[in-house]
This record gives sequence, structure tokens and C-alpha cells, in this order.
Amino acid sequence: MKTVVTGAAGFIGSHLVEKLLARGDTVVGVDNFLDNYPRRFKEDNLTGFAAHENFKLIGADLRQLDLGALLQDVEIVYHLAGQPGVRSSWGSEFSRYTENNIMATQLLLEAAKTANLTKFVYASTSSVYGDTDDLPMREEGRTRPVSPYGATKLAAEHLCHLYWRAFGVPTVALRFFTVYGPRQRPDMFFHIFMRGLLRGEAVPLYDDGAQTRDFTFCADIVDGILSAANYAGAGEVFNLGGGSEVSLLEAIALAEKVSGRRAKLARFDRQKGDVRHTSARLDQARGKLGYAPKVGLESGLAAQWQWICSIEG
Ligand code: NAD
Ligand code: UGA
Repeated sequence: MKTVVTGAAGFIGSHLVEKLLARGDTVVGVDNFLDNYPRRFKEDNLTGFAAHENFKLIGADLRQLDLGALLQDVEIVYHLAGQPGVRSSWGSEFSRYTENNIMATQLLLEAAKTANLTKFVYASTSSVYGDTDDLPMREEGRTRPVSPYGATKLAAEHLCHLYWRAFGVPTVALRFFTVYGPRQRPDMFFHIFMRGLLRGEAVPLYDDGAQTRDFTFCADIVDGILSAANYAGAGEVFNLGGGSEVSLLEAIALAEKVSGRRAKLARFDRQKGDVRHTSARLDQARGKLGYAPKVGLESGLAAQWQWICSIEG
């Protein structure tokens, strides 16, 4: 099977490529090594498969590629490329979000109109929901993002639906809930926290620590993505969560347990763009995709701690 993975050098994209190659797929990865974090992390993400005979990397921006040629003879597109991060999406940074999240997606969908795809899987986010008391978050529930990032991801999610309705592009959007594990982006909490533990540096704790997340281990997300690619339907949206809602303080205690170290915390106010609680209702993903997250937070954090130790070595 010939597939395209956009964002192949990123945190989640690199895990996906690895799994696709392991099962025998041919993968064309696209990544422009956007400078949202240092390039060396992305280069490292690729090391396990860069030389694989069934893998080719196109190191280019989706907005500058001949996307018609890219999608020729391709069955499945996994569209993970984008500018992530909620707190940094304000002000002058916003154009990075509109360009890499909305424009890049629209161009890819345009090309997908005339390609012969069986599925176009889009990496959406729990950030489309915003703050709500209607927990767990349901796919059909209200979407009112509290970050500009969430607004751009929701716009791109709408585009996926529109291109399915108008042109039959077989899109499925997956709302990932705070993903963690080895290769996690260096701007995300567990990465910052574990780096702080290793270096003996204080870690910023925003808000009061009672905010909750439905943390999802990267391998579970990859399994959900692969199930969505096999799904017979299209034009739909699914939550992919980890299966439990945990406060940041509880997660910190678990990370301290697996590392055997104590954190120094520096307290700050809640940041603009941060949602107070996330929690995924998984009935749709379980029922239609057969999605079943397997990795509990403690073992997932242990895997991430091992990885952080190896790169900070
Ligand atoms: P990441 O930054 O590690 O990976 C994204 C990759 O896309 C990067 O390597 C970047 O260089 C590439 N990219 C960005 N714009 C591009 C463009 N115009 N052309 C080509 N390549 C481009 O981020 P991640 O955490 O792996 O997230 C992957 C996707 O999942 C993103 O779309 C993100 O919005 C979404 N998501 C992530 C999380 C999470 O917790 N990590 C949660 C919800 C949704
Ligand atoms: C994450 C990703 O960064 C987004 O790309 C993604 O779309 C989003 O998940 C999602 O699920 O939609 P976030 O939940 O903010 O966003 O993930 P983290 O950066 O790991 O933050 C988790 C919690 O830790 C937040 O409450 C945040 O305020 C807190 N935090 C983060 C700190 O207390 N200190 C820090 O230094 C960083």
C-alpha cells in the first residue's frame, strides 16, 4: 500500500511512519522541518527509518509542493503536518497557524479531489472543544476553542468535512487528546517536566495543578489512526483519548514515581489558550473504529522517562 504521511519528522508522524513501514506499507513522508522546535529533534525522530527501502522523505513545505504529483497512485493520506501548541498561538505567531494548519490543509484537500484515495485522515485536536462543563467531550458537542490554535484546527476540520460533502474526498478527522511518550515535542509538559527533573531545574506549573487532561500515549494514537484508515465510512469525526482524566498534580506524582526524583515547581497563573479540563468520550471511536487505548499513564510515563534519559544522557 502506498501512503503519504505529512509531518513525518514530527512527534506523532514519526511513530506512525515506523508502524506503517513495519507492516509493509510504502511511505512518502513530507516535512519542512518547521522551526517550531529545534531541527535536531526532528532529525532524531527519523533516524530509525530514514534509510528504510520503502521510505522516501520529501523535505518540503506542503504549500510549495506539486501536490497532484505527490498524491498520484497514493491510497491513503495521513495529514499530520501543522503548527501545534495552544499557548503560543496568539499575536504575531498566528500567521504560522493559519498558514500551516488551514492553508496547507486546503491545498492538500484540493489535490485530493482528483486523487484516487481510499482515506484522508486528518489530525485534529481536543482543542476544538474549548472550555465546557459538558464532560466527557462528545464529538457532537459544542466546539468553541479558547486558543487561536484550536480555531485554526477547527477550520481545517471543517474543510475536511466540506471536501467530503462537495467532492467525496474520504476524510476522517481524529481529535487527539494531549499526546505523550517518547519523542514528545519539547514545548509540551511532560517533556519540559522530565527535562527539569534530570537537570535539577525548576519546572513552570501553570494554573493550580487541578486542571485535567485525558493524556494519550503515542502508540495508542497510532493504533487509532490506523483503524481510521481502515474505516469504511467518511466525513466523520472521532475523539482519540487515553481513557482517563487525570489532574496535572496526579500526573506529576506519577512522573516523580517512575523517575525516582522530586520536582521543583515554579508556580504561574493559568495561561491564555489553556483549557481547564479535557476528557474524551470514546464510544464512537470504540464502536466504529474498534479503538481501545492500552497504555496506562504510569507505564507510558516510564517509557517517556527512559527516552528523555537517553537523549539528555
Ligand atoms: P510536531 O510539530 O512534532 O509535528 C508536526 C510536523 O509537521 C513537524 O515536523 C513540522 O515540521 C511539520 N510541518 C508543519 N507545517 C508543515 C508544512 N507546511 N509542510 C510540511 N510539513 C510541515 O507535532 P505533533 O505533536 O507530532 O502533532 C502532529 C499533529 O497532531 C499536528 O497537526 C497537531 O496539531 C496534532 N495534534 C497533536 C497533539 C499532541 O498532543 N501532540 C494533540 C492534538 C493534535
Ligand atoms: C497539547 C498539544 O500541545 C496540542 O498541540 C494539542 O492540540 C492539545 O494537546 C490537544 O489535546 O488538543 P496541552 O494540553 O496544552 O496541548 O499539552 P501540554 O503542553 O502537555 O500541557 C498540559 C498541561 O500542562 C496544561 O494544563 C499546561 O498549562 C500545563 N503546562 C504546560 C505547565 O503547567 N507548564 C508547562 O511548562 C507546560
